Order: sequence, then C-alpha cells, then structure tokens
Amino acid sequence: MARSASARLGWIFFSVVILSSAAIAAAACARNVGEEIRRNLLDNGLGRTPQMGWNSWNHFHCNIEEKLIRETADAMVSTGLSAVGYKYINLDDCWAELNRDSQGNLVPKASTFPSGIKALADYVHSKGLKLGIYSDAGSQTCSKTMPGSLGYEEQDAKTFAAWEIDYLKYDNCNNPGTSPKERYPVMSKALLNSGRSIFFSLCEWGQEDPATWATGVGNSWRTTGDIRDTWESMTRLADLNNKWASYAGPGGWNDPDMLEVGNGGMTTEEYRSHFSIWALVKAPLLIGCDIRSMDNVTLGLLNNKEVIAVNQDKLGVQGKKVKQDGDLEVWAGPVEGGRVAVVLWNRGSSQASITATWSDVGLSSTAVVEARDLWAHSTTQSVREQITATVDSHACKMYVLTPQ
Ligand code: GAL
Repeated sequence: MARSASARLGWIFFSVVILSSAAIAAAACARNVGEEIRRNLLDNGLGRTPQMGWNSWNHFHCNIEEKLIRETADAMVSTGLSAVGYKYINLDDCWAELNRDSQGNLVPKASTFPSGIKALADYVHSKGLKLGIYSDAGSQTCSKTMPGSLGYEEQDAKTFAAWEIDYLKYDNCNNPGTSPKERYPVMSKALLNSGRSIFFSLCEWGQEDPATWATGVGNSWRTTGDIRDTWESMTRLADLNNKWASYAGPGGWNDPDMLEVGNGGMTTEEYRSHFSIWALVKAPLLIGCDIRSMDNVTLGLLNNKEVIAVNQDKLGVQGKKVKQDGDLEVWAGPVEGGRVAVVLWNRGSSQASITATWSDVGLSSTAVVEARDLWAHSTTQSVREQITATVDSHACKMYVLTPQ
C-alpha cells in the first residue's frame, strides 16, 4: 500500500531538516527504494500495524507445553494486555516431535502437546486471541528437536491452515547454504495458497539484508541476531535495526527481535528505554516474559497505551535516531496528524540534560506545540523551539509533540 502523499511529504521534510547534505542523498535514495518495494507488498492484508503479542522463546526456550500456553492466553486477557492490543500467542521452537508421521506431516510433541495444536488454537481463539507457530527454512529447527519445513512448505502450510494457525515465524537454521531469498518465498507462496490468512514473520537474522527484498515475502523480517536480556544487547540491536528505517511501513516491518521486558536482566529504566524505542521504531511488540507471574512494574511498562499508540500509529513510519551527542541521543519520527514522537535517550552512565530542537525532530522552527509526556502522562502547553529534560542514566523520556 502506498502511503498518503502528506505522510510522505512530512517524512521528506523531516529528513531534509535533520540530515547533512551527504546523508540526505543517501536517505532519499533508500527512501525511494523503500517506496518502490512498498508497492509490492505480501498480499495477505496483514500487519498493517506492527504485530503485538507474546512468544515463548525469550523466557521459556524449549520448556513449553500446552498448559503454559493456555495459561498465557488466560493471563493475556486477565491482565488487560489483550485489551491494549496484544493478540498473538506464539509458540516458538520445540513444539513438535522430531519425526514426521508416515504421510510426512508434522506431529505435535505428544509429551507436551497431547491435545494437539488444533485444540490449542480453539482455546486461544475462544479467548479472542490468535495462535502463532514456528518452523524453519531448513531440515531441522535450531534446537534440532523438530523438523524444518524445507521441501515440505506446501504440506506444512496446509497443516497450519487446518489447525487454524494465524502466524508463522520462520527460522533459518540447518539450511543447505542456499540463499534465504530462494527459501523464504516458497513458504510465503505456500501460506498464500493455504486458504487461511497467516501472518508471515521472517527470521533469517538480517543475514541477507531482508529489508531490501522481504516486503513482498513477509509481514516482518528480523534485522538482527538474537536479543539477550542485557543493556548491551538491546542497545546494539536498536542501532543495527535503525539502518533499515526507510524500508518499514504498513504491511512489512523491521524486527530487531522480541521484547525482554520483565525477564530480569535489565533495570526498570533500561526496560522502559527498550519498550519506548521498540515502540517508536515500529518494531513488533512481542512480549517475552512470563506474563502469568509478571510484577506490576512490568505490566505498567507493557500496558502503556500512549506508547503503544505510537507503535500502532496508522502512518507506520519507523522513527529513527536523529541526533547523537556522545551517549545522549534523540530518536524521533512523524505520527498521524502532523505530530512528532520523540525519545530523549541517555545511554551514558550519569544523569544528563538532553535537548531536541524543532529542527532535530522535523518541526518548523516557529511551531508552538503541546508536549505530552507518555510516561508521566502529563501535558505541557505552548512549548517553543526545543524540548529539554534531565534524564537519568540508561533512562529515557518519551513525548508526542502536537503543533497547536
Ligand atoms: C533462533 C531465533 C530465535 C529462536 C530460536 C529457537 O534462530 O532467532 O528467536 O526462535 O532460534 O531455536
């Protein structure tokens, strides 16, 4: 889908203001390529905004079973997370037997999914949620505990459709060395032929720059290797993903990997930064903690409707790093209605003051804005020329600026 002319103009203006002339040329070129590809989106009508949900991998790895998945679906509803947009309950690796049946079908692991996947899908659907599953564009998945789908794409896509699966994450382990550009489109077509709309999430770890070719293949594509539950990992992935900003948009998103919020390896302020930046850059918001037992601080990060609204904004423009002064950064991007979302991010080790000028974030120098602080839930009227805040180490402030 082509974006509206005003959205495109807004972004072009935004880019022109903030970048040096050499960078302007590079960004404009990337943007044009991005827009070109955008006309060739995967034709499944899904992912008009980034996907939101939960995935088993970051917290549970291979220790998954049907009771956990049902309880997670229950918790998604009882915590109110489904009401703020989290819909997908996604199984990751390790849900199947190592061997296919005599007809070559994938078989749910009897010891952990004795009721089968269709029954699980029925349960998840009964809660108003959607069920995702996982496979691999190779002979076996990364855990090597289950088969991959290479050579079985049509058959597996039909199986997933028969089970009423809504989402497929497709990994890249144990492949024969051929290009993902050859292997992923085969599953993409098989899903389109399956008779069911299935969200297609590519996971080839950014190996062959999927942003440049995957818009017609999938609804999202990993731009990086796996996230770990550390500040170093999270910040590194944010930076790697930033490079591909111009390729993201409704129908196809850059994926810097799933959320670690609530898993315990980062401080609350680091998790707030993680969530704020993932929201701003239109990353998939796939929760990776145990939502059955998360504390209120974790829930309070994940359920911030104002931050989620930036992620789910209809314009679908990926915010990006627009200014860096050592460890002090400004990330920003346009949102619907001539507004701008801004994150002031202190990646340094001590408290500091961070300023974003209107030219940094793509506002006209004469603009007078209302500044909404999305974490304090407070509004400041008549802000002129710049916004400044004192930001703690590894913390951020997040605003939406609305011209008055
Ligand atoms: C990795 C993938 C992870 C997870 C894992 C499962 O390749 O990037 O997100 O799916 O495999 O084994």
